[in-house]
Order: sequence, then C-alpha cells, then structure tokens
Amino acid sequence: MAEQKQFVGQAEFAKGLEGVIACESTMGYVDGKEGKLIYRGYDIFELAEHSTFEETSYLLLFGKLPSQSELDDFKQKLVQQRAVPKEVINALKIVAKTAHPMASLRTGVSVLGAMDKNAEDESIENYTSIGISLIAKMATIAGAITRFRKGKKPVDPDPKLDHTANFLYMMNGQKPDDYTARVMDVSLILHADHGMNASTFSSMVVASSMSDMYSAITAGIASLKGSLHGGANEQVMHMLDEIGSVDKVDAWVDDAIATKKKLMGFGHRVYKAYDPRATILGEYSQKITEAHGRKDLYDMAKRMEDKVIAAYGERGIFPNVDFYSGTIYSAFGIETALFTPIFAVSRISGWAGRVIEYVTENRLFRPRAVYTGEMEAKYVPMAQR
Ligand code: CMC
Repeated sequence: MAEQKQFVGQAEFAKGLEGVIACESTMGYVDGKEGKLIYRGYDIFELAEHSTFEETSYLLLFGKLPSQSELDDFKQKLVQQRAVPKEVINALKIVAKTAHPMASLRTGVSVLGAMDKNAEDESIENYTSIGISLIAKMATIAGAITRFRKGKKPVDPDPKLDHTANFLYMMNGQKPDDYTARVMDVSLILHADHGMNASTFSSMVVASSMSDMYSAITAGIASLKGSLHGGANEQVMHMLDEIGSVDKVDAWVDDAIATKKKLMGFGHRVYKAYDPRATILGEYSQKITEAHGRKDLYDMAKRMEDKVIAAYGERGIFPNVDFYSGTIYSAFGIETALFTPIFAVSRISGWAGRVIEYVTENRLFRPRAVYTGEMEAKYVPMAQR
C-alpha cells in the first residue's frame, strides 16, 4: 500500500487554519493573550468612548480618522446611498416573512449586486464606492426585513438622521432617543472588524479570484450566519430563554459542563483572555436591561458568566462579543432572529475595508489539502463492483 498522506508545500497543516498567517494588514489587531482589540492603531475602548460608527467606518476604509469636512462628506454619501432599488424590496417581500433574516439579508445584497451595472468594474475606486454604498444599504435592507417580518411596510430612510438612528428608525418606525441610538452605535463600533475571522476571510477569498464586491460581501454574510460565528448572539438568547430565570442558572450550567454542552457566547479562537468587546457590552447590558425592566436578562447572563469562568476560565474560555449583545437588543424589544443581521450591518465596514486592502495587492487564495485517500486504485467496471 502506498503512503497515505500526500502533500507538497511549505506550511504546517493546522485544522481550521489555526495560527496560519494569510496576509499582511494594517486594518486591525486582536491580541488574544492580553484581550486587546485595535482598529488602525486605535484601542477599541477609545473608539467606543469617543467615536461614532460612521467615523469608525471611515477609519477602517481609509486608514485614518477623518477631518470634519471628510466626515461630513462621508455622512452625505451614506445619506445619498441609503435607498435600495425596488427590485431588492420586491425580493425581500417574497422571502423575508419566513426565511431566516440572515438568508434574507444575503438575498437582498445578492439582488443589489445583480442590479448594479457597475458591479464588474474592478477598479479600487469602484470597490470603495460599493463598500460605502453597502454600509448605507445593508442597514436599509435589515430594516426592511424587520418590517416585513412584522407584516408591515418598509420605512424610508430619513436624511436628517445619523446612520445608527436611521437603522433603528427603519426597524421600528419610530425615531430612537439619543441614548438608545448611542448604545446601538457603540455596539456597531465594537462589531465592525475583527481580524481574519471566518466571514472576513470568506469575503477575501471570494474577492481574491477577482469576482466582485457584492459577491465577496454576500459570502461574508453567508459565513457570519453560522452559530459558531455571528449566529452565536441569537443562540445565546435562546439559551437564556431556555434557562428561564437566575435561580436556574447554576443547575443548567452544571449540567452543561457535565454533558460537555457547547456554551454559546463563550470561547474564542484568538482570545484566551476576556474579550474587551464583552467588557463594554456587559456594562451597557447592566444599564440598559435595568432601564427597560429586563434586569432578569442581565442577572442570568452575569450569573452564567461567573459560573463558566470559575469552571473554564483557566482554559481561556471567557464571554465573547456575542454574550451580552443580545441582552441589550432584547431589552430594546428587537426580535432575537434579527441579532445577527445587526452584527452584519456593522461588520460590512470591516469586510469592505479588508477586501479593498487585499485586492489592492491581490493574490489568489489557493491553499492545499493533505491528501489522505487511496493512491493506486484500479478502475473496476460496473458489472464487477
Ligand atoms: N463551550 C464549551 N466548551 C468550549 C467552548 C464553549 N463555548 N469553546 C471552546 N470550548 C472547549 C472545546 O470543547 C474544546 O475542548 P477540548 O479541548 O476538551 O475538546 C476546547 O475548548 C477548544 O475548543 P475548540 O472548539 O477547538 O476551539 P476553536 O478555536 O475551534 O473554537 C469557537 C472557537 C468560538 C468556535 C468556540 O469557542 C465555540 O464554539 N464557542 C461557542 C460559539 C460562539 O460563541 N461563537 C462566537 C465566537 S466570537 C464572535 C464571532 O467571531 O462571531
């Protein structure tokens, strides 16, 4: 029998590409040991305190904080780009009521790409203008999906509102108060970029074949949907619903640990320390759930965090970004199935920035596999099998 492992290459095999370096980037850095997250040199705590999602998106796309006039111009572009073609709304009308909202979002962006006559223009200027357009339009699409799921008509964007206030307005049909808009804005800042995560890498792989920006972003949405990635925020809420009340947390977690159940919203490939995004969202969760009469959600989550860290903290398993976000969205009255689309409405900035950065110095992604199959099989005619 011939040797069963065949591989020609320089790299070590790492399951799930753990630790593999796929590119160079100036977009951002995840320090998993220290629990630090940096966008273009700026610590996430600084951005969460001082920046806005619009400004952070500019930072991710263009590599520097904007001047006032650059920011005004960028915001104006978002205003101009918010409306989506009627064909997109018509497609959403068909799918949004029953499909998973991430499937609807994926469909919406795909139809958008099919309607854009400039989709195939490979210039970096075109990639950038589609990136800006998608930052604007994905919020509009997610808003329309929310409305169709409630059996209501989409709400047109309001040119006087900032991006995040507009997003909430298009979801709920009511203008949010300043504090609610600010908390959602911070959440969008925190979700905007995160190294070579699965969805970002998916977008980059698609872009690297010189497909097009819409196809790349559609792939990112498809990947983010999964429960091990962005879809975990939805699963966390189902888990908290299943537990039901704070007095049931201990027994539930003990059983989950004994039966080796996966605890959603915990653990991370890179962070082996507390995820800084969860620190910020945990603090907001405490305030918001209390203000909206849903302190029960925070209390359950916090008790769960303490139990899980006591059991798994030594192994580097801590809450991640998806653990507290849903308690905040739930307190705002947002349906659980919409949590991952909110993630996508933010992550589009990171996807677009990293795709643009990569295609600027493009090289096709094309890894290898270790072949573990048969090498010398002889073809057997059908009659003899
Ligand atoms: N609950 C229980 N055990 C866990 C968990 C968890 N959430 N996460 C990791 N472990 C254990 C796992 O069972 C394994 O144990 P053992 O060595 O005994 O087999 C060990 O830790 C290593 O886990 P892994 O699954 O090999 O680690 P990974 O780097 O492949 O997975 C992860 C990272 C995020 C997929 C995983 O931690 C997980 O499934 N977490 C739950 C889903 C989740 O919250 N995902 C959101 C991630 S952060 C936001 C985002 O990027 O979208």
